[in-house]
Amino acid sequence: MNTLKHVAIIMDGNGRWGLNKKKSRNFGHKAGIKTVEKIIKETIKNKIKYLTLFAFSTENWKRPKNEIKYLFKLLESFIQERIIEFNKNNIKLKVIGIKKFSSKLNKLLIESEKKTKNNNKLQINLALNYGAKDELVRSIKKLVKKKKIINEKNISKFLFTEGIPDPDLLIRTGNTRRLSNFLLWQLAYAEIYFEKKLWPDFNERDYNKILKKFKSVKRNFGKI
Ligand code: IPE
Ligand code: IPE
Ligand code: MG
Repeated sequence: MNTLKHVAIIMDGNGRWGLNKKKSRNFGHKAGIKTVEKIIKETIKNKIKYLTLFAFSTENWKRPKNEIKYLFKLLESFIQERIIEFNKNNIKLKVIGIKKFSSKLNKLLIESEKKTKNNNKLQINLALNYGAKDELVRSIKKLVKKKKIINEKNISKFLFTEGIPDPDLLIRTGNTRRLSNFLLWQLAYAEIYFEKKLWPDFNERDYNKILKKFKSVKRNFGKI
């Protein structure tokens, strides 16, 4: 049976879900928060150590201003409301991506990371303003600046995910089969599951089904 330390999720389909309900895309984003809560709980139940959630990509800045504004408002209230509980539950929060938001949100994120930094039951990596290509360029630039050898170990060391084991499993909801610039380096050997359901409809049962399938897959890592 495969061990499972790290699950990464591309939480896709909120906008379509809202529109399908004859409401707004933002209505879908709001509903998506409930799924985030369910999946965090279930991740803890399954004793998984790392959960990486793609919440906002470097490309998502191309969306309409009102949607971007709403997404960050949701994120801000989610963190404000949950951080004490996260801390109580021994959850560590880490942001991967460049914190270039309002000064209020930047501060909230930095404080939340600081507050939870010694927790060790579950680490949630929140990918915000995250792009894998941007991350790789930054890493290589740092290596050049520090005159370090460019090899796999050193490149990994200067990624946002430094010290975190690579995801064993990637799930993308929303019936779309692409990576959208997410963790391109770290997903080199991940098992990938594309889920038809839109993120707000995804639930604990769907998640557990995927976890079960993952456990019985033969992972080769190049061997036979
Ligand atoms: C959520 O899904 C992902 C975020 C960028 C927050 P989308 O907003 O991409 O929803 P769809 O794919 O348009 O339905
Ligand atoms: C990927 O979803 C980003 C997040 C889930 C945050 P998108 O909906 O932005 O991806 P594309 O643009 O359809 O590839
Ligand atoms: Mg999408």
